[in-house]
Amino acid sequence: MLAIQITRHGGPDVLQAVHLPDPAPGPGEVLIRNAWIGVNFVDLQHRAGTPYPVALPLVPGTEAAGEVVAVGEGVDASLTGTPVVHFGHLAGVYAELTAVPLASLVPLPPRARLDVAAAVALAGTTAEVLVTQARLGRDDLVAVQAAAGVTGGAIVQLAAAAGAEVVGIASSRERAEGTLALGARHAVAAIPGQDVPAAVRAATGGRGASVVFDGTGHDTFDTSLALLARFGTLVLYGQSSGPVAPFDPGRLSGITAAGGPGSLTLRWVSASHYLEAPGVRRSALQTVLGHVDDGRLSPRIVARLPLRDAAEAHYLLESRTTTGKVLLDAR
Ligand SMILES: NC(=O)c1ccc[n+]([C@@H]2O[C@H](COP(=O)([O-])OP(=O)(O)OC[C@H]3O[C@@H](n4cnc5c(N)ncnc54)[C@H](OP(=O)(O)O)[C@@H]3O)[C@@H](O)[C@H]2O)c1
Repeated sequence: MLAIQITRHGGPDVLQAVHLPDPAPGPGEVLIRNAWIGVNFVDLQHRAGTPYPVALPLVPGTEAAGEVVAVGEGVDASLTGTPVVHFGHLAGVYAELTAVPLASLVPLPPRARLDVAAAVALAGTTAEVLVTQARLGRDDLVAVQAAAGVTGGAIVQLAAAAGAEVVGIASSRERAEGTLALGARHAVAAIPGQDVPAAVRAATGGRGASVVFDGTGHDTFDTSLALLARFGTLVLYGQSSGPVAPFDPGRLSGITAAGGPGSLTLRWVSASHYLEAPGVRRSALQTVLGHVDDGRLSPRIVARLPLRDAAEAHYLLESRTTTGKVLLDAR
């Protein structure tokens, strides 16, 4: 089979198109012929070898939709031929065939769009978990970092659908303003010289955010804390710019920093932990596909590249110019 493999960490050029033996499904696994593969920022971090360590050689990827072509020991053979999406198992996906543990798999309805499923599975279920956990309502002012990105954009859409007043923050004026079409009420560009917390307060009549969603980490952490209102919650869910530097928890108190809002909560949410109980992954994905059907969540597919051009997909994501999902075509 055709696969994309890395044997050393580095830039996009370490992604090599190779021919590997077809994998065989082990006990409790199924073999999927992938049609569409979702490219995620975490794939770039696995390729680079930081901040998430992985073993080499690696066929990267964590999300794809396709069809079951074989089943391993202990798996119901009638699954063969079923359209499915699989996500969150962190290896072996940039390939024509992937052996997938049943727990990472969700069967799809017969006429489901495989490209849409591959575009929304990981980001959609992550946004669904984040927004549900935050119990958002009409009184909430929510700030979203990297709001033009795939997961950030999904959070904007679902938080707005939950009734919250949303501020979309992105690294250029154009990227920030694009979040207004996703349901953000305010757009703030995090550009050099811009005081982002001041700009957010100016746009919102002086309000601080009750919830800030931050998947960027290192570069945005201080700004995210400064965006919060008293009793606000900073939800970290990623570290696209690198890990957050060690910090003094006293900064959450509002006592050590004069005039700070205080009594703040800091959380880290990994969607996979919330999706691992039996049946939860499937129901979350069904909820997300329902959001797509009723228009609350747009799949925002912005590029489709052949599987062998995975390096180009990584260059595209690193360029910080995309405002939606990049898919690899493995058909
Ligand atoms: N916790 C979970 O369960 C979970 C699940 C899925 C994804 N995630 C995390 O969510 C984050 C977003 O993932 P995604 O796949 O949806 O990617 P994405 O948001 O489409 O792309 C990353 C975005 O991060 C921003 N960014 C900030 N610093 C950057 C840097 N140094 N290099 C490149 N981009 C940078 C860019 O937006 P601007 O240029 O506008 O800042 C870019 O659009 C990742 O950290 C990922 O690991 C977490």
